Amino acid sequence: MGSLKNEEDLSLEESNEAILYVNGVRRVLPDGLAHLTLLEYLKDIGLTGTKLGCGEGGCGACTVMVSYYDQVSKRSMHHAVNACLAPLYSLEGMHVITVEGIGNRQNGLHPVQESLARAHGSQCGYCTPGFVMSMYALLRSSKTPPSEEQIEECLGGNLCRCTGYRPIIDAFRVFAKTDNSLYNNHSSERLLEDQFVCPSTGKPCSCGSNVVSVNKDFVNCHNRYSPLSYTEIDGSSYCEKELIFPPELLLRKIKPLHLNGFGGLKWYRPLKLRQVLDLKSRYPDAKLIVGNTEVGIEMKLKRIQYQVLISVGHVPELNTLRMRDDGLEIGAAVRLTELVEFLKMAVTQRAAYETSSCKALIGQIKWFAGKQIRNVASVGGNICTASPISDLNPLWMAAGTKFQIIDSEGNIRTALAKEFFLGYRKVDLKRNEILLGIFLPWTRPFEYVKEFKQAHRRDDDIAIVNAGMRVLLEENSGQWSVADASIVYGGVAPLSISASKTQLFLSGKTWNQELMQGALGVLENDIVLMQDAPGGMVEFRKSLMLSFFFKFFLWVSYQIDGEQSSRMGLTHSHLSAIQPFCRLPSTGRQIYEIKKHGTSVGLPEVHLSSRLQVTGEAEYVADLPLPPNGLYAALVLSSKPHARILSIDDSGTKSLPGFEGLFLSKDVPGGNNIGAVIDDEELFASEFVTCVGQAIGVVVADTHETAKLAARNVHIQYEELPAILSIKDALKANSFHPNCEKNLEKGDVEDCFQSGSCYNIIEGEVQVGGQEHFYFETQSTLIWTMDGGNEVHMISSTQAPQKHQKYVSHVLGLPQSKVVCKTKRIGGGFGGKETRSAFIAAAASVPSYLLNRPVKITLDRDVDMMITGQRHSFLGKYKVGFTTEGKILALDLEIYNNAGNSLDLSLAVLERAMFHSDNVYDIPNVRIKGNVCFTNFPSHTAFRGFGGPQGMLIAENWIQRIAMELKKSAEEIREINFQHEGYILHYGQKLQHCTLTSLWNELNSSCNISKACKEVDLFNLHNRWKKRGISMVPTKFGISFTTKFMNQAGALVQVYTDGTILVTHGGVEMGQGLHTKVAQVAASSFGVPLNSVFISETSTDKVPNASPTAASASSDMYGAAVLDACEQIKARMEPIASRNKYSSFAELAKACHMMRIDLSAHGFYITPDIGFDWKSGKGSPFNYFTYGAAFAEVEIDTLTGDFHTRRADVILDLGYSINPAIDVGQIEGAFIQGLGWVALEELKWGDADHKWIKPGYLYTCGPGSYKLPSVNDIPLEFNVSLLKGVPNVKAIHSSKAVGEPPFFLASSVFFAIKDAIIAARREVGCNDWFPLDNPATPERIRMACTDEFTKPFVGSEFRPKLSV
Ligand SMILES: Cc1cc2nc3c(=O)[nH]c(=O)nc-3n(C[C@H](O)[C@H](O)[C@H](O)COP(=O)(O)OP(=O)(O)OC[C@H]3O[C@@H](n4cnc5c(N)ncnc54)[C@H](O)[C@@H]3O)c2cc1C
Ligand code: FES
Ligand code: FES
Repeated sequence: MGSLKNEEDLSLEESNEAILYVNGVRRVLPDGLAHLTLLEYLKDIGLTGTKLGCGEGGCGACTVMVSYYDQVSKRSMHHAVNACLAPLYSLEGMHVITVEGIGNRQNGLHPVQESLARAHGSQCGYCTPGFVMSMYALLRSSKTPPSEEQIEECLGGNLCRCTGYRPIIDAFRVFAKTDNSLYNNHSSERLLEDQFVCPSTGKPCSCGSNVVSVNKDFVNCHNRYSPLSYTEIDGSSYCEKELIFPPELLLRKIKPLHLNGFGGLKWYRPLKLRQVLDLKSRYPDAKLIVGNTEVGIEMKLKRIQYQVLISVGHVPELNTLRMRDDGLEIGAAVRLTELVEFLKMAVTQRAAYETSSCKALIGQIKWFAGKQIRNVASVGGNICTASPISDLNPLWMAAGTKFQIIDSEGNIRTALAKEFFLGYRKVDLKRNEILLGIFLPWTRPFEYVKEFKQAHRRDDDIAIVNAGMRVLLEENSGQWSVADASIVYGGVAPLSISASKTQLFLSGKTWNQELMQGALGVLENDIVLMQDAPGGMVEFRKSLMLSFFFKFFLWVSYQIDGEQSSRMGLTHSHLSAIQPFCRLPSTGRQIYEIKKHGTSVGLPEVHLSSRLQVTGEAEYVADLPLPPNGLYAALVLSSKPHARILSIDDSGTKSLPGFEGLFLSKDVPGGNNIGAVIDDEELFASEFVTCVGQAIGVVVADTHETAKLAARNVHIQYEELPAILSIKDALKANSFHPNCEKNLEKGDVEDCFQSGSCYNIIEGEVQVGGQEHFYFETQSTLIWTMDGGNEVHMISSTQAPQKHQKYVSHVLGLPQSKVVCKTKRIGGGFGGKETRSAFIAAAASVPSYLLNRPVKITLDRDVDMMITGQRHSFLGKYKVGFTTEGKILALDLEIYNNAGNSLDLSLAVLERAMFHSDNVYDIPNVRIKGNVCFTNFPSHTAFRGFGGPQGMLIAENWIQRIAMELKKSAEEIREINFQHEGYILHYGQKLQHCTLTSLWNELNSSCNISKACKEVDLFNLHNRWKKRGISMVPTKFGISFTTKFMNQAGALVQVYTDGTILVTHGGVEMGQGLHTKVAQVAASSFGVPLNSVFISETSTDKVPNASPTAASASSDMYGAAVLDACEQIKARMEPIASRNKYSSFAELAKACHMMRIDLSAHGFYITPDIGFDWKSGKGSPFNYFTYGAAFAEVEIDTLTGDFHTRRADVILDLGYSINPAIDVGQIEGAFIQGLGWVALEELKWGDADHKWIKPGYLYTCGPGSYKLPSVNDIPLEFNVSLLKGVPNVKAIHSSKAVGEPPFFLASSVFFAIKDAIIAARREVGCNDWFPLDNPATPERIRMACTDEFTKPFVGSEFRPKLSV
């Protein structure tokens, strides 16, 4: 490449004039904002449609489209990017389109928005703008309508916690249509020669002119999914023109930039390499940035303050992409999306043997982050970060890549990739050097390169272990021997590392079984991974190293010999190890009948907020601007799990500009003791802290950043005390919350065990991990005083406004009548905002009240996850006796939950677990003892299912074990033990209207389980390293709060003289469609259309003393309360209505008003005939039960633990559904959330098993380390049906509650995984039962599939560590 030393000296010509177009509007960016991200800027200019879900690039809620003009291809380029990571100035000279820029309610929705709204694709709506923008960017950047695969792929970086993705995919699938005449109103003939049809709107568009013409030859082959067609949502009402690329930006000559930011931060944008080098010599410690996906995280999460940032994305020399005779030249700033396109081109243009490395890179980048990250992340950024889990560095090393390095003088040197990485995040670059480019040589004949990666989740996840492997073979007298080999791993050392001894061993050896066995033997000890290595999972990681090598051996053998690889001693069945995972577009059916009552009840109406959600116009607390004189709050948090507070030093806060105050326990004007059920918590810890993340105080300041900084600057000295960090610790120390031991008993368990009637009695232990709610909108409250503090008002993201009112009135010492809490909608709750939101609002109320100023508190995602508690982990110890047929005779169960440091709702959660410990089984003798463990973790709390799923999962574990002991199928054991109509449960309640058998039979016949079983057996017979498994699981979920007084509901209904109706009730809309269903009830009651009814918000001054919106029963209760109010008003209207014939409801309302009829009514409902007495252990805690069943089929890769769900069929009895579309949405959402619980989501705490995490800390506190199911995890075929013809006599309009019951059905996936593991273990002669803890992550799956690659490290009984 030569040297730049003698080139002309280029002056910097820096400018500080920066512009940006946002939604077609030109904006001048002032100097001083270098610290801002695009997302922060958008909020500052009032565009709140783009949401903050995580701030670390992991959820996609902040997706926007960025367009820029590419001088080389002479066209405008469009990309989806994460606004939360994009530095504001990096977009200078570009056009940003946010969700507000593409459509709105006033001017019409964009077809993407319209389709999503109408396909029920939004629930809480917080993720929705991000999905809209990912899809929009895909369409704008596509030359032709994208394929279904591309659509699913483009959504890989967007998470949704509510919907289960199916409706989102269905909504967007219509854009995959490829028949242009169907696709838009402009037939291709009518288009001008050079006109381009935008795949986004189906209308002509300027950005692709002269580049693409309309292709007439596509055929529409996708009529499988047609809930809506594109023509239906073609935007006829969408009158906005697609925003074009601003002409100014086409003509504008960009200049080097020099701008500044907070704290002396300098931002440079050089345009030439020489300028970069000059800057680097001026500022040797400067950070070069391209995508900012590493630096942004370092600055945000690791809180590193860099002083100089040099944005090098525009430097042509760093953006080279050149194909040479000997290989590829790739500039360091090339983005991964561009790189993949270029590699794909190389693969098509070069001889097949030359591009083995290219294919490996393409394969690896497919699973590298999400689309938004790949669009901005650079090759050089990945290399220079030198992360030990970089996906690409092992491949660069293995492929013999060379790095070109240039110093500030312009001297260029070359370094081999395999010598470039020196240590943990340390590379062979001097302070005055930068990476210029990469040279990737073509592979030679018989040279093979392969990529490997195993992560917690397939899509958008960092690797646990990855690898790049290369071998060059040469043929000698009919045998292949190794001329050269390179085996490189990531994730097993502080840096990407070569297995050097293994490489040496391979050299010169013949490529055969012997080589493989020998190499595995060497590899076993080649890379040493210590027991306490950061990241844990040591045994898994070691096993993966061997598994990957084995796969490589098979793959290479297959490359050289194809099907003949039996020459290497391999059977056809072994090839299952190398079949790549490829996912077809997902499909699904939703089957339900419509039972219409009146004008609206029973219809699949669209969620009432959906049109606001898809346009980003729906407002959430986090979006609310701070009122004048307002302050931001941040909590001062404990850093010890158990300690005495010795001193609090706030000297580091006072000097911070913008700091307004620190408030501690001594400052609380009212009571400092708080609690959901009993007051066993302190608002601010006064003397002791009992968990990491406990609030010790609150800081307020003029900006959120200052408040957080000030909170961090409060220094606390502690005297550390012993901490209890697991259920087992708690049992050893007898550490329980007071008065929480509970007992339920039926029959005589002891007598049964002694009687000899049991064929077998088994004993075991089940560990069930916790789960993070991960509602998309984090906890947030805006609170202010009125009349000088005489009243306090707040708007909170909570499921329980009344609890906020109560807590705030208590801590401020005000009467509840002077405190108001309002909630319009929340961005998800799932139980996490039932109680654990209230202390946050109460903390903010203290400074607000004492300073008499508005205060806003919004938790960052990591803080939210760390301090607000999760689903309880459980430990179950069972002893079960059964007959030879598998009939259960007796169950003796001890059950414990990990409550954390306060009681909160943990006792009620335990009780529900105890009630559900039978699931659906007839157990003549039962004894259940439960207790609530006190541990030094943040208080765990309600989460969809509220202990029920944990209780049922423990039951299904022993059911599955009985089946194994008896060598029968678990389904058979389940069936013969089913409870029936009239059965008396272990707590005395009688089963009525039990539909379990009908559901089970219907599912059984629709899934044809015996056929599925045979097919799975056949598959397993022919595939040594891939196994399939199936399972069918039933559920019975009790509906009602188990605390009797909570089963009450109030509502206020007001009829106005124009015939519209305003409903207010005590329930909160959190995405579950409560307001929609309740409005349907009101509409049908008055006989008016649904759009005559409006529900604005939930407010404690309209409906007092409401229970939290929880326990699935809100539609039952608030629907009934609203109906009660409607009936009262109708009764008052009746005399007027019967006297005259009115042409409309409005006329009638007006007439009533004239006759002085009160058109407002308060409705009330209490759930009848429920109650439970814990003294006798008998009663009827539930109003009724919702029944369901699910079938699942999975496939696992036994060598890596990777799995996917091939099919899931769910059936529920929901009576006559009030809104079947919303109910199906609840089922799908609950099932996928449940799938996360059983197979993906693992909380890792600093405990005895995780010594590499600081004691009491939550390691998995963001989407980077805690993996929710993504679009790629949903079943390939996902069918949902509602049982027909079964009205429920116990609830309004014969409906049934839906929110929680389907959650547990995802355990069918867990047991299908276990079924597959059983098949794998059978191959090595392990036929005995084994425990599998929840969640069945890749680590647990792989380690349970004991084989020659796990044996060097662990035995077949090995149980990976789990924080319980
Ligand atoms: C949500 C998310 C998911 C991710 N997933 C993955 C994944 O699956 N696999 C994976 O491997 N990584 C992953 N990453 C890490 C990251 O995206 C990649 O490392 C990315 O390639 C970094 O590129 P960048 O341009 O954004 O780097 P930047 O943040 O812009 O820069 C990173 C570092 O490189 C240095 N640097 C950049 N260019 C040069 C140069 N030319 N010379 C010298 N130094 C230079 C910078 O100074 C800085 O220290 C993920 C990150 C996020 C946020
Ligand atoms: S908020 Fe940006 S990706 Fe989550
Ligand atoms: S609708 Fe997707 S997170 Fe709620």
